[in-house]
Amino acid sequence: MTARVALVSGAGRGIGRAIALALTAQGHKVAVADIREPEAAETVAEIEKIGGTGLVVPVDITDTDAVAQAVLQTQDELGPIEILVNNAGWDELVPFVDTDEAFWDKILDINFKGMLRLTHAVLPGMLEAEWGRIVNTGSDAGRVGSSLESVYAGAKGAVIAFTKTIAREAARKGITANTVCPGPTDTPLLKGIVDSADDGSKVINAMTRAVPMKRLAQPHEIAAAVAFFASEEAGFITGQTLSVSGGLTMA
Ligand SMILES: NC(=O)c1ccc[n+]([C@@H]2O[C@H](COP(=O)([O-])OP(=O)(O)OC[C@H]3O[C@@H](n4cnc5c(N)ncnc54)[C@H](O)[C@@H]3O)[C@@H](O)[C@H]2O)c1
Repeated sequence: MTARVALVSGAGRGIGRAIALALTAQGHKVAVADIREPEAAETVAEIEKIGGTGLVVPVDITDTDAVAQAVLQTQDELGPIEILVNNAGWDELVPFVDTDEAFWDKILDINFKGMLRLTHAVLPGMLEAEWGRIVNTGSDAGRVGSSLESVYAGAKGAVIAFTKTIAREAARKGITANTVCPGPTDTPLLKGIVDSADDGSKVINAMTRAVPMKRLAQPHEIAAAVAFFASEEAGFITGQTLSVSGGLTMA
């Protein structure tokens, strides 16, 4: 298996940390890009514990200059980025009528434009190298909608459509782009959402009941799908949207 250089956004905790560890297990070096530096350092410590190479890359993906700097740091210290996982995301449960434009901007800036910034900074190098894997973390909310997550669902729908378009534009250059859509997953984000929303636990219980397998996903289950799309073997699979959600979304 060829060892590659990967950058995973939001790899300080939750699903992103599990992705960083899964890519490490495949032999890749991983830039752990996150706004939370201490958590990113914990992920790197876990990578090193299993014999891998990780790099703490502090970055706020809503800041274009910081994203450019993060990509340069990774290239300088690990080499050209061959695998990009746009995973960082954020949400809060709010009825649409109670949201305002500042909230819309925040959701879009993190969940959609953050991915645009990183992809814009990394894709030219992949095109030049004629090899690349882009894997974006979407959400089942972006495929079928999710009550109290209207703007987030819209942003994740945009992630899916953008990914398909990049897949088309880069298809003849050895580059694939795919989206993995988690269903409700046991992470600090989900816990935060439950704690902050009125009736948060009721909402999560309802979400869990809707899952045919009747449980939350564990982060490593999402990471396995991401690692597959990032692999050499998945080289003829592009523009796809894969739900990892215990059967919640079957389409
Ligand atoms: N947990 C779920 O139920 C669930 C379901 C569907 C989709 N997702 C998606 O999975 C991805 C990971 O979510 P998670 O549940 O692991 O969340 P999490 O909050 O546990 O982890 C997300 C990480 O992203 C980082 N991050 C947030 N904003 C950032 C920014 N501006 N710049 C850099 N890093 C930033 C956080 O610091 C954190 O370490 C997100 O895209 C989320 O939308 C999660």
